[in-house]
Amino acid sequence: MEFPKLRPRRLRSNESIRRLVRETKLSLDDLICPVFVRYGEGIEEEVPSMPGVFRYSPDKVIDEVKKIRDLGIPAIILFGIPEHKDEVGSDTWSKEGIIQRTVRLIKKEVPDIYVITDVCFCEYTTHGHCGVLKNHHVDNDATLENLKKQAVSHAESGADMLAPSGMMDGMVKAIRSALDEANFYEIPIMAYSAKFASAFYGPFRDAAQSAPAFGDRRTYQMDPSNAREALKEVLLDLQEGADIVMVKPALSYLDIIYRVKEATLLPVCAYNVSGEYSMIKAAGKLGWIDERKVMWEVLTSIKRAGADMIITYFAKDVAILINRGE
Ligand code: PBG
Ligand code: ZN
Repeated sequence: MEFPKLRPRRLRSNESIRRLVRETKLSLDDLICPVFVRYGEGIEEEVPSMPGVFRYSPDKVIDEVKKIRDLGIPAIILFGIPEHKDEVGSDTWSKEGIIQRTVRLIKKEVPDIYVITDVCFCEYTTHGHCGVLKNHHVDNDATLENLKKQAVSHAESGADMLAPSGMMDGMVKAIRSALDEANFYEIPIMAYSAKFASAFYGPFRDAAQSAPAFGDRRTYQMDPSNAREALKEVLLDLQEGADIVMVKPALSYLDIIYRVKEATLLPVCAYNVSGEYSMIKAAGKLGWIDERKVMWEVLTSIKRAGADMIITYFAKDVAILINRGE
């Protein structure tokens, strides 16, 4: 009988050797935690379709941000729900807008957390689309003008980095030049470069009250069938001055993360989106899967595919495990 000479199992025989050969390790340094803020006072309400995720009024958000900071997570990304929506989403560039007030407060109370703001309009418009409407169609170039105002206003309130998510053509260039003209040349842009028109955003739209009132986002977000087009979007954003590019969603798009990582020298962020979170939470609650193990496996797969950083609603859960040395 001839024995196998090559035995990969030798390197799997106990946890010590597995640790030594492990190629991908999750770290606190990978994590960006989303935070939802809404108008009002004394509010801390759980999002029904996202167990463990809350919407806070500005006065209540500080404790949450401190918790995130104390867990060792380096950054948050802020989403806002304004008191008043209108046709163009003017809260987004108001000095007293929900994001502006919240960023000022966070930077005062928790200066050491890195604050990224999502730059878009869907949470702020009555129609729920990501820009200015003309004849029921999102007008690209009119939206760019408003994006500039929003970006400069976020920067003035103290945001550390801006993340435009509307998939408008030329948005990175427009925001970069507006920031530079206002002397904010040190603020980086993380572009949602390859953002797909995905059904996995469902729970987020509950959380942010940002579902489109009619139609869908397929005239601006990408067709899930396309991979080469994602590379085109990334290369355009690179030329326009993006500092970090993002792929979103993450789990059904690991091939895109991998290809984007190969195609660019920029850091790559992956957005582990709301539907990806809620599926795991729901199946975990039913006892059908082991929630923690699946969370760990999914986040590891996103990093293994090439993500340098991950926006995830699991940030606090996974940080607790990392801090325990698991
Ligand atoms: C807004 C925005 C969306 C998400 C982040 N920014 C939703 C959308 O495009 O409808 C999705 C986040 C998630 O599902 O977790 N443009
Ligand atoms: Zn939007």
